[in-house]
Amino acid sequence: MRITAWLAVVAVTLLAACTSEPEIRVRGERFNDEQLALGEQLYIQNCAACHGVNGEGQFPNAPLQPDATGRLGAPPHNATGHTWHHGDGLLIRYVLEGGVSLTDPANFYPMPAFGDQLSETDIMTIIAYIKTMWTDEQRTRQQQVTEAEASE
Ligand code: HEC
Repeated sequence: MRITAWLAVVAVTLLAACTSEPEIRVRGERFNDEQLALGEQLYIQNCAACHGVNGEGQFPNAPLQPDATGRLGAPPHNATGHTWHHGDGLLIRYVLEGGVSLTDPANFYPMPAFGDQLSETDIMTIIAYIKTMWTDEQRTRQQQVTEAEASE
């Protein structure tokens, strides 16, 4: 009997874990549904033109291949991309300063700097929304990268 009760508790806990929304954090700060909805709006207004409405990237058919000019377009931010390989600190810096500070303009189309238009809180809110496009595993991995980055 005891074991049955215990199994019931496990089953209910597992069910709750499967049905609840993932917890989204940026630099340790939790983002709720309302903030994520704002993040989606800001993403559509500022980022979607290049990175795609659903984060599919500028050239969704060959997102990580250079085009005829030898340059890469805006990469996907969704689960097919590699945005989740970067920690929160680097992602925030990328958006504040633009890609030119971090990548060679000969190999990439320019990623503009948003430091003059968006606050750091806005940028964190957008990144929180981008995280909703990833798998649980990608979010967990990216969280580890962020923690390693923060302790550097
Ligand atoms: C004018 C087109 C354009 C807009 C608008 C734009 N990006 Fe980008 N973005 C790019 C390009 C091109 C790259 C790749 C070149 C590079 O890394 O410098 C890039 C790279 C990035 C990267 C680094 C690569 C990665 O996947 O980790 C991040 C993060 C990023 N963008 C986030 C954003 C966010 C957030 C917004 C909206 C606030 C935005 N971008 C708006 C063109 C754009």
